[in-house]
Amino acid sequence: MTKRPGTPGRRFAAAVALAAVALLAGCSERPAALSMEAFLERHWADPVAPQGTPPQAFSALEASLSPRACGQCHVEQYEAWRASLHSRAVGPGLLWQLKLMDQAQANRCLRCHAPLAEQKALLAIEHGWEGAPAAPPPAYVGPDLAHEGLVCAACHVRGHGRFGPPARAGGSGAKSGRQVASAAGGDGARVGGGSLPHGGFTASAAFQDSRFCAHCHQFPEDGPRLAGKLFEDTWQQWAASPMAREHTCQSCHMPDRKHQWRGIHDPETTRGAVDIALAVEPLGDGRWAARTEVRNVGAGHHFPTYMVAKVELALFRRDADGTAHPLERHVIGWMTDTQITREIFDTRIPSGEARSFEDRFAAPRGDWQLELVVRVKPGEHYERMYREHLARRDELPPQAVPHLQRALQLVVSAEYELARIFARPAIAN
Ligand code: HEC
Ligand code: HEC
Ligand code: HEC
Ligand code: HEC
Ligand code: HEC
Repeated sequence: MTKRPGTPGRRFAAAVALAAVALLAGCSERPAALSMEAFLERHWADPVAPQGTPPQAFSALEASLSPRACGQCHVEQYEAWRASLHSRAVGPGLLWQLKLMDQAQANRCLRCHAPLAEQKALLAIEHGWEGAPAAPPPAYVGPDLAHEGLVCAACHVRGHGRFGPPARAGGSGAKSGRQVASAAGGDGARVGGGSLPHGGFTASAAFQDSRFCAHCHQFPEDGPRLAGKLFEDTWQQWAASPMAREHTCQSCHMPDRKHQWRGIHDPETTRGAVDIALAVEPLGDGRWAARTEVRNVGAGHHFPTYMVAKVELALFRRDADGTAHPLERHVIGWMTDTQITREIFDTRIPSGEARSFEDRFAAPRGDWQLELVVRVKPGEHYERMYREHLARRDELPPQAVPHLQRALQLVVSAEYELARIFARPAIAN
């Protein structure tokens, strides 16, 4: 990196280092090649080091960390990312909690929700945290960067250099029409040099490895646990699943390198995760058994993977005149109290496995059928937690309340019906 004294951004950049308590040592070297483990360790060093002063040769567009700037050339990735949850990782659900935190506490959340040092510095200015830079952000940072969540640069830019997966045969992404040479191969291979925008990029197969995602979707062994289980364990669930032989996180969540990251918030994706079977069998004397089986056929980890989402199964006996008689309800998910100190139950379904429920009930003679309504609450845990805090809103700083109200609205509006399944008794009753 060339250091240019007097560059307007320098004072901010220097303060950014402080704000993010960055560990700068050893970050300026760029060896020709690294093992994938070493690459990932450096790429996801926590905290991510400030980018520093952009290379002199960069235009303002090339230097910008703003997703909109990347989107000028990488149109497809930008459009997909903008609609994804990664672009909303700094939403009202996080913002109301930041109002209750000091900088050190907040940075523990921002590691995953807004990992760039420049984002942490902007949030420090906004919240008046100690160590916030006094100088305004330089042009390459952009005033909105903190609120844009998990931005392109968080995954792809270190020290202003671009890192990405090996180029596809025949070039890719940006609308340059330019062929990217066969340097696709080895880890740490530089592609393009000075001839391409932003000085080309460094290719690493780490971008196609599930461990790339683990930085934020897997807690370390010594991370927080309940009932012996890590709060976040998606990578290990995947690694232990039969799916791991054929799929990575990317092959399911970024098919054809698409930047959509669809998951349990998307009904179509979730329908692809499960097979649901419903049957009704006679037990005699007007009694019946409803058998429900839910099989995880499409998720490469538990269904659902965290304690956040819940899937509710509601059984009804539906009479010919349309009257619905509620029978049993079941919940699939990891249910804990809102403080995460007590496990209530854990009915998540590991990849490739199934969970069955048998419910016995009495039914009169006549024409009826069994109806199963499956609803998904992608943010059930947060919904309960937000309601508890809203009930005690007097104890919150007033500026947190509007964010909390908006967060509750968002979480409730994310609920949807996944399926509605019917089963008729096989023999006349
Ligand atoms: C002026 C246009 C331009 C801008 C602005 C730009 N890029 Fe690029 N980028 C390119 C071109 C051209 C290539 C090389 C061809 C390709 O792979 O698309 C490239 C390559 C890449 C690659 C490597 C793709 C691969 O195959 O692995 C990544 C990653 C990348 N850019 C990320 C970014 C990010 C992130 C930003 C914003 C911080 C950005 N770029 C801004 C034009 C641009
Ligand atoms: C959560 C991390 C993450 C974020 C955020 C992210 N990317 Fe990517 N990007 C990846 C990964 C991982 C791949 C490689 C996927 C694969 O090869 O299966 C990739 C691939 C790419 C490629 C190569 C695409 C191709 O078709 O060869 C480009 C270009 C790129 N990203 C640009 C962007 C831009 C621009 C943004 C923001 C609008 C962005 N990325 C946001 C992780 C991310
Ligand atoms: C190790 C990475 C990681 C850390 C650290 C982390 N989160 Fe998250 N957070 C996630 C992931 C992944 C999700 C998505 C969960 C899902 O989809 O079920 C999430 C979801 C959320 C949501 C719900 C979505 C939204 O934006 O409304 C909130 C709120 C949230 N986190 C707040 C926090 C707070 C507050 C902290 C710090 C105390 C924190 N997170 C720390 C990874 C992390
Ligand atoms: C075989 C395909 C597949 C693989 C592999 C896979 N996923 Fe998923 N993932 C899904 C499907 C389908 C869903 C929606 C159903 C669900 O939530 O389980 C999902 C949901 C999610 C969710 C939403 C939250 C939740 O509670 O379920 C996150 C986060 C996620 N995946 C991350 C990952 C990560 C990280 C990896 C790699 C370690 C990964 N996935 C591997 C298919 C896959
Ligand atoms: C820097 C941290 C970070 C990295 C790296 C990261 N994620 Fe995420 N991811 C998050 C956070 C935070 C959320 C929750 C955003 C929200 O809802 O506010 C999330 C949400 C998701 C979701 C949305 C699921 C849903 O609830 O519907 C999926 C799927 C996902 N990530 C997959 C991936 C995959 C695949 C990778 C690797 C290519 C990856 N993530 C890398 C932090 C990260």
